[in-house]
Amino acid sequence: MMENMMEKIVSLAKRRGFIFPGSEIYGGLANSWDYGPLGVELKNNVKKLWWERFVHRRDDILGIDSSIIMNPKVWEASGHLKEFKDKLAECKNCKKRFKASDTRNDTCPACGHKSGFNMEVKDFNLMFQTHLGPVLDKKALVYLRPETAQAMFVDFKAILDSASVKIPFGIAQVGKAFRNEITPGNFIFRTREFEQMEIEYFIREKEWQKYFDYWQEEILKWIESVGINKKRVHLVEVKERERAHYSKRSVDFEYEFPFGQAELYGLAYRGDFDLKNHEKYSGTSLKYRDPDTGEEFLPHVIEPTWGVDRSVLAILLDSYEEESKGKEKRTVLRLLPQLAPYKAAVFPLLANKDKLIKLARKVYEDLRGNFFVAWDDRGNIGKRYFAQDEIGTPFCLTVDFESLENDEVTVRDRDSMGQERIKIEKLESFLHDKVYSKGR
Ligand code: GAP
Repeated sequence: MMENMMEKIVSLAKRRGFIFPGSEIYGGLANSWDYGPLGVELKNNVKKLWWERFVHRRDDILGIDSSIIMNPKVWEASGHLKEFKDKLAECKNCKKRFKASDTRNDTCPACGHKSGFNMEVKDFNLMFQTHLGPVLDKKALVYLRPETAQAMFVDFKAILDSASVKIPFGIAQVGKAFRNEITPGNFIFRTREFEQMEIEYFIREKEWQKYFDYWQEEILKWIESVGINKKRVHLVEVKERERAHYSKRSVDFEYEFPFGQAELYGLAYRGDFDLKNHEKYSGTSLKYRDPDTGEEFLPHVIEPTWGVDRSVLAILLDSYEEESKGKEKRTVLRLLPQLAPYKAAVFPLLANKDKLIKLARKVYEDLRGNFFVAWDDRGNIGKRYFAQDEIGTPFCLTVDFESLENDEVTVRDRDSMGQERIKIEKLESFLHDKVYSKGR
């Protein structure tokens, strides 16, 4: 990876409207970030691709979209109230607090003093609290979910009762999760509000190893399919003492970020920990009844989990390139066309020729029915190409004087920079083939 890659990505993201610092005009808010007009497209495309791959194209996984605020008993049953804590380390000099695992020697990351840390400070529960309704007392205390997963267990019975499912099957959800991280940082890598894409895959206990291996492969296939460099991803077996309280086995998919190797995605075998506890705390049977044998049992669970924001970060890092040919330099985001915010950009060769503008506008508006397309009529064509390269637009379509005669436009390819003439009436099917046939 190039030097200063994080700085380059953060700067491009801000300059071109992918990701801005949150609440910036008020001085920001503790590493919060807002997705701008292009960032929201990229992020939505990641989620869309995931949903298509794991929900629409399979008949064994069903989607849900649950409330973020759930009955607080959920978090008692799930163990999060008791266990979802970080060990704190407090600098003996400046008194700043850090996640104990982030302090590897006696040097304070904030003040630089080598006076060491006080490890006796109380563990810190990462769940955000709020109150439901107008009275701020203990009875009204609720939590913002720290993982999307719990709704898949809590809604398990509703799914069994309403859909025809047979084990093995999964429930999937994409949505926000909240953690009061002690040390957020590294751009969108660790924030307090982030998005997850999670699947709880319900299986028979005896088959856990088989499905664990299966989901490990599925995560790797996803990584390749979205253009994340597989060579930068390392599978790390999580040691027992470092595993989440619910996990019997965990493998982290760590990615070589510019600031170090760190978790991109995770895979856990949660056993029957969650269903068993929800059964106990809710008093409701969550057993599955085999329709063929009549056998009743609590399914076990394999959980593959993906962070949306970390996906966006790894995709940006792996698609960013700076190229120079002779005097010309360009920055290009080699995004998979399906992920690119704009699928194409339409240019009239000159901005002051009515006939050109009229035809180019028609091309633009016709394509907009099916694709998200950009319009640009400023400056010279070379500059317009480079401006689109930098945001990953796979094709630029230029309407010129010849177009008025023969109904053809120049199609310029982002990656090869090659150009070809294509009939206007064929543009729609051309884009469709190029954008949707790759990467599936
Ligand atoms: N349901 C299991 C679970 O939540 P996790 O490893 O704690 O497991 C899953 O989180 C994924 O969510 C991580 O692999 C990561 O991609 C993402 N994630 C976790 N904490 C995050 C944070 N503070 N900021 C951004 N993404 C985060």
